[in-house]
Amino acid sequence: MSLLELDGVKVHFPVKKGILFDRTVGHVHAVDGVSLKVEAGQTYGLVGESGCGKTTLGRAVLRLVDITEGEVVLDGTDLAKLPVEEMRRFRRRLQMVFQDPLGSLNPRQNIESILTEGMLAHDIGATQEERREKIKKILARVGLPGNALSRYPHEFSGGQRQRIGIARALVLEPDVIICDEPVSALDVSIQAQVINLLEELQEELGLTYVVIAHDLAVVRHISDVIGVMYLGALVEEAPSDALYAEPRHPYTRALMSAVPVPDPEVEDQRERILLAGDLPSPANPPTGCRFHTRCPWVQDTLCATDRPALADIGGGHRVACHYAAEIADGTLQRTSGAVVPAVPEQSTGVEKSERPEKAPENAEKTEKVPDNSEKSEKSGTAEKPEKAEKPEKAL
Ligand SMILES: Nc1ncnc2c1ncn2[C@@H]1O[C@H](COP(=O)(O)OP(=O)(O)O)[C@@H](O)[C@H]1O
Ligand code: SF4
Ligand SMILES: [Mg+2]
Repeated sequence: MSLLELDGVKVHFPVKKGILFDRTVGHVHAVDGVSLKVEAGQTYGLVGESGCGKTTLGRAVLRLVDITEGEVVLDGTDLAKLPVEEMRRFRRRLQMVFQDPLGSLNPRQNIESILTEGMLAHDIGATQEERREKIKKILARVGLPGNALSRYPHEFSGGQRQRIGIARALVLEPDVIICDEPVSALDVSIQAQVINLLEELQEELGLTYVVIAHDLAVVRHISDVIGVMYLGALVEEAPSDALYAEPRHPYTRALMSAVPVPDPEVEDQRERILLAGDLPSPANPPTGCRFHTRCPWVQDTLCATDRPALADIGGGHRVACHYAAEIADGTLQRTSGAVVPAVPEQSTGVEKSERPEKAPENAEKTEKVPDNSEKSEKSGTAEKPEKAEKPEKAL
């Protein structure tokens, strides 16, 4: 049995209308039947464009949102059915690292207080002295100085804040860490350092990861298996190498065509498949194959009427497309959708790849600890604007 197994997981959010009486007028099908397995010590990469339900799925695993249907089985226990108090104990084993490192750390708590919070909630350490020692060791391991303990989140750069987020998960000694877009708010040069750190920690501590990203380049090197999500469901899943060598689903092909290739000759020949239109609303998903409104290979039969199942095509490769075999052997030609030479500025309708292909080996040494808060604000330059979001509590 795999360490983490999801079976038919659905998360539907009610859409309410009315001021006095809240009427449910529909549902957002954020996650709509996801089944997958994550093996112990491995990394499952989950990719798909913004709004396809990745974060909701991650939150459902931790039961931070209500699961409408399906099972989330950790080490043989179905978390979806656990009473709240028992679930609280299980949360220690499942931790999340969030996309926005600053937004997920309480600005009024110093680092010691932020990291102690979860330890207290899970009765880790007999005294504060003991907890402090453990925190110091973990901060050192993630590359932060000992004096970080008494400092506040705003005194650190973006990359360092993400290291604090990772340390906050690690102090609880989890089995599984769900990293939700762990590097997408960071400067490109810092992204590789954080990915490298995650890989090293996995090797040392035998951690199991689910790494969520909108960018295939980010999950490529770190993932053993990759699942591609579209509008609440998996459309393709395969061991990382197989997915890159032979993407079978039209959506994966389009995503892949946006990833730059390091070989300049191949890069020159690369064509990008442009997807028409935006992601349809998960409140009103298309009938049949959810991708049929944008699929460059869409056919007159089946596509608009029958939802394809995620079928096993061998070698651990699963694809949800009625015509995957015909597209692969070339008997079906594209029916729509533009194909253009790969020019980096052009949009594919999916968010573009920003991370360099390979992490620099000496990357760890380049990130400096700021001396004071004023300087550190500047050192966190390339972050996205902060979200006006409540800081995440220790889970
Ligand atoms: N609490 C919520 N209530 C209603 N809709 C939500 C809620 N959270 C997310 N959604 C919707 O669910 C869909 C999936 O969102 P999300 O899981 O954040 O996608 P991703 O992480 O892939 O960008 C989006 O359409 C989003 O607007
Ligand atoms: S089932 Fe049809 S619409 Fe869906 S991906 Fe395959 S060819 Fe495209
Ligand atoms: Mg998200």
